[in-house]
Amino acid sequence: MTFNYTTFEESKLEFIEITPASEIPNGERLFIDLGENPIVIFNIAGQLFAISDTCTHDDGPLGDGELRGFNVVCPRHGAEFDVRTGKVMKMPAVVDIPAYPVQIRDGVIFLGVPKDA
Ligand code: FES
Repeated sequence: MTFNYTTFEESKLEFIEITPASEIPNGERLFIDLGENPIVIFNIAGQLFAISDTCTHDDGPLGDGELRGFNVVCPRHGAEFDVRTGKVMKMPAVVDIPAYPVQIRDGVIFLGVPKDA
């Protein structure tokens, strides 16, 4: 089972309007709640990436963590996840986190979430 929704066909996703792209300048991040799911969107060198804001190690929030390249480092125990795919890159976490596709349409950020979620 994969949680990397960036690989899903668009027909299986619903794109939700989030905010104007200008709200997340280069190097910034934005925290949102989609239903009960906290999500963080990063702007890394002008590209946007969205992941779940919950570490799979001990459910700590991830989004305040330092970035190392495309990895975010969990502030609690140092697990690392690739923000492009949600893939776990470093222990102590062993389970990937969801990654969501981000699109910009007419200057507005849309987040792709699975239709059945
Ligand atoms: S809660 Fe993230 S590494 Fe432990």
